[in-house]
Amino acid sequence: MHRNWCALVLVVVLPAAAADAPPRAALASAHPLATEAGIEILAAGGNAFDAAVAVSAALAVVEPYSSGLGGGGFWLLHRASDGRDVMIDGRETAPAEADRDMYLNATGEVDRDRAVNGPLAAGIPGEVAALEYLASRYGRLPLARNLAPAIRLARDGFVVTERYRMLAGYRADVLRRDPEAAAIFLLDGEPPPVGHVLKQADLAATLAIVAQDGARGFYSGNVAERLVAGVRAAGGRWSRRDLAAYRVIEREPVIGEYRGVRVVTAALPSSGGVVLLEALNILAPWDLPSMSATDRHHVVIEAMRRAYRDRADYLGDPDFVDVPVTHLLDPQYAAKMRASIDPARATPSSSLPPAGEPEPVGTHTTHFSVIDREGNRVAATLSINLPFGAAFVPPGTGVVLNDEMDDFSAKPMTPNAYGLVGVNANAIAPGKRPLSSMTPTFVETPARIGILGTPGGSRIISMVLLGVLEFAAGEPPARWVSEPRYHHQYLPDEVQFERGGLDDAEQAALRARGHTLTEVGRTYGNMQAVLWDRVTGAVTAASDPRGEGVPGYD
Ligand code: DON
Repeated sequence: MHRNWCALVLVVVLPAAAADAPPRAALASAHPLATEAGIEILAAGGNAFDAAVAVSAALAVVEPYSSGLGGGGFWLLHRASDGRDVMIDGRETAPAEADRDMYLNATGEVDRDRAVNGPLAAGIPGEVAALEYLASRYGRLPLARNLAPAIRLARDGFVVTERYRMLAGYRADVLRRDPEAAAIFLLDGEPPPVGHVLKQADLAATLAIVAQDGARGFYSGNVAERLVAGVRAAGGRWSRRDLAAYRVIEREPVIGEYRGVRVVTAALPSSGGVVLLEALNILAPWDLPSMSATDRHHVVIEAMRRAYRDRADYLGDPDFVDVPVTHLLDPQYAAKMRASIDPARATPSSSLPPAGEPEPVGTHTTHFSVIDREGNRVAATLSINLPFGAAFVPPGTGVVLNDEMDDFSAKPMTPNAYGLVGVNANAIAPGKRPLSSMTPTFVETPARIGILGTPGGSRIISMVLLGVLEFAAGEPPARWVSEPRYHHQYLPDEVQFERGGLDDAEQAALRARGHTLTEVGRTYGNMQAVLWDRVTGAVTAASDPRGEGVPGYD
């Protein structure tokens, strides 16, 4: 009797009907043409990893302001055949001639112009190496097949949208400084009108070389020669050796658990996974959905404040600095952080206690999410940093260079473009990878598998946090991508929120608890998400309504 009762409970509680493979493939990306490229490859027999190569390459063409061959990113993979989770680290590295103080002027202040504009701001790109790696180690189709849609889009052109115009307008002054960039991305020195067909012949040629010769065609030979010549002629510090030395790194993802949800997320040199899991650990005991909006916002903000503080103090490239990840993700450490939260008052950031030593023993960037019919998954966040990166194109390459060097801390406790501060852990050093916030993430319960991520600089991590909380509350991906957003990053000591992110009453209630509030921009983020419900069999994808992305299915 007793035994039967147990069996019955097991049948009811466990998703016994959970399917092993999704009934259809799904993909969400930030541009309709990139989604189309991925669906084309899935329909041609490619798996999610092939689709990821196609989508990444297509985004490099149709979102030249977001990511590209001149940039890098993180591709979080789940391989269904053996359940392996791995992160492909294609992050940029500092060139060998980089030095700690390279952006300081004569008075010791950071020269913000040189830190983000022109080739001195560019790290050695990782994207091409990562695409070849993905295709050859995890994909099923040849690299050349996966790159075909992007080559077509570069050669035949894509139609300029409002979003393109807005971002080109934002960076027009810097784009105009470089004749090559201006000739490609502006029309008579101005952002082209909506409807203009933008063709990129040089980029098509560079992509075709990569399709034929693989990553070698980019990191050595004519393309490499042009990249280095262009960079050096304009004051940058790249060398042929830097390009030849670039390597993709496979990293173990950061894995944690939040109220029954397994979270698989970005490893260092992205701060995203550590900050996300630290915040979730702090929040774990609270049943957030049952709390008043003000109480919920208050504790989420306080968790963000503490997790971002540790980002500033401790996080950097793990190949260069010792990062106390185990300590920061220890439940006892989270309990200590939680105990320092006053339920009634904002904690001034300046009063936070230091994290302490580990115990002796111990607006651009882009994201896409894809699942195929075998259950392989990719969450990828790719970047060239600011819109149009460094706004510099080495002549004859069509490749927009990143300005990812600004993700280093150019001077201790001096804010970068996202207001982030850091200390030694994230100081510049040759060959080192700048600390990122990009947070491609999988969320898993026995019944539901979610894939999510977004651009948005420092706010990426808090957006993914809010998305994970929505997933944990049982909400569908349309909610994760559209939920109103708010953010705290320790310094500046203020709650940032998008228009509509907090209503008037919520703002007043948080002010009454001592929070400083700042409405930033109009809205922010561009989340792309996929959910596979293994019990109902439904596979749904959702694109952030703030952007122009669309989901697609095969
Ligand atoms: O790696 C990082 O954290 C930044 N380079 C990402 C930049 C970004 O998301 C810009 N987006 N709006």
